[in-house]
Amino acid sequence: MITLTVDDTEGMEALGARLAPLLRAGDLVLLNGELGAGKTTLTRGLGAALGARGAVTSPTFVLAREHPTASGVPLVHVDAYRLATARELDDLDLDYDHAIVVVEWGAGKLDGVSDSWLSIDIRRRAGDAARDDLAGDDLAGDDPRDVTITGTGPRGLELEASLQTAE
Ligand SMILES: Nc1ncnc2c1ncn2[C@@H]1O[C@H](COP(=O)(O)OP(=O)(O)OP(=O)(O)O)[C@@H](O)[C@H]1O
Ligand SMILES: [Mg+2]
Repeated sequence: MITLTVDDTEGMEALGARLAPLLRAGDLVLLNGELGAGKTTLTRGLGAALGARGAVTSPTFVLAREHPTASGVPLVHVDAYRLATARELDDLDLDYDHAIVVVEWGAGKLDGVSDSWLSIDIRRRAGDAARDDLAGDDLAGDDPRDVTITGTGPRGLELEASLQTAE
């Protein structure tokens, strides 16, 4: 398990960029954390570093968006917020083997989909969230995030180890 603090938006994009050179086709990254935690922000940094075409945005209404990248291995960005079960995620019939797949809100929905993944949990600090509620969304500024990275399965553990070495 890797724990780190990411101070601001740029830092979250940089974490995504750090992940980019480690990932290959078949890899699965799970992003967990409440609304506005920074899941899409991390994915944007990852996409930029992969040379992904098309804007990386929250695909809330699309479920999954595929971005061609410089290496030829597409980045598939999934928002599983509206999916309730592993079955529904499985039903999307995503081509996991030939893509780098990033799933927002995928925790607990991967049974039967894969046995290896890298899980990244992003947590806002309680006080910061409360302050934003008072200020309104538009005024939300940069706040530190507590990030925990855990690998599951052989490839997940390998990715966790490479990320640790690359620190
Ligand atoms: N330390 C930080 N790390 C990441 N984002 C931050 C940080 N501080 C402030 N932000 C801001 O928080 C917001 C995070 O939004 P983002 O869309 O990435 O969240 P999300 O987790 O994808 O939410 P959703 O579940 O709605 O898709 C952005 O506006 C970003 O600029
Ligand atoms: Mg998002």
